[in-house]
Amino acid sequence: MKENKYDDNVFFEKYSQMDRSKKGLDGAGEWHVLKQMLPDFRGKRILDLGCGFGWHCEYAIKNGAASAVGIDISEKMLAEAHAKRSSDAISYICLPIEDIAFPPSSFDVVISSLAFHYIQSFEDICKKVYDSLSPGSNFVFSVEHPVFTAYGTEDWYYDDRGNILHWPVDRYFNEGRRSTIFLGETVQKYHKTLTTYVNGLIRTGFEITGLIEPEPSEEMLHTVSGMTDELRRPMMLLVSARKR
Ligand SMILES: C[S@@+](CC[C@H](N)C(=O)[O-])C[C@H]1O[C@@H](n2cnc3c(N)ncnc32)[C@H](O)[C@@H]1O
Repeated sequence: MKENKYDDNVFFEKYSQMDRSKKGLDGAGEWHVLKQMLPDFRGKRILDLGCGFGWHCEYAIKNGAASAVGIDISEKMLAEAHAKRSSDAISYICLPIEDIAFPPSSFDVVISSLAFHYIQSFEDICKKVYDSLSPGSNFVFSVEHPVFTAYGTEDWYYDDRGNILHWPVDRYFNEGRRSTIFLGETVQKYHKTLTTYVNGLIRTGFEITGLIEPEPSEEMLHTVSGMTDELRRPMMLLVSARKR
């Protein structure tokens, strides 16, 4: 099932109010880590899967990429990307990630930020990414961490007074659809194990070059309320890989 939640008016308005939507990459808690995992973009052809508002496409072009293609299922997200982050070197295409079909060696770098947990099969997309990359080139992505997605509610357990007790982890090896609550709305996501992400890459032929469970920056810990709770469980998984 391909859900297009970001075209829902209420959800879109709420997502647009998040720091990462208003401030861009600097408003994204994991950016200080993800940025370090990206390869040199100079002269490269970039594909961004689930590009949203186009922040990463814009960053790639500003950092010397020859071209960037942003794919997203949401017309609303792409309308904003077109309006605010357009360039002759960027093309935005409204398409489900599952349906991409690029000729072999079309890209030198494929990136994806927080989109693959909306996709049922990581292995299918991994194969498509592998084929679309030139030999020796890079694949870098972030997803919600399997510990974060396993149970499904994507919320803490609280005591009677509303204090956080712990993060529930259950049904870990039962991969598949989860009805989560994100921004107060029901959103369909897909839980996958760490093994699925790592072995999906290895089986496809990628060499894993980095894997990080990012922690908030020192600055965020001191300036953003509630950030210290982010040290209690991983929320994201960041992976970089190279096509052999
Ligand atoms: C959390 S947002 C991340 C946006 C952007 N990558 C960023 O980090 O700022 C997830 C994005 O994935 C897109 N998305 C979700 N499911 C998708 C699918 N099946 N195909 C293409 N895009 C999808 C959504 O429309 C949304 O723009």
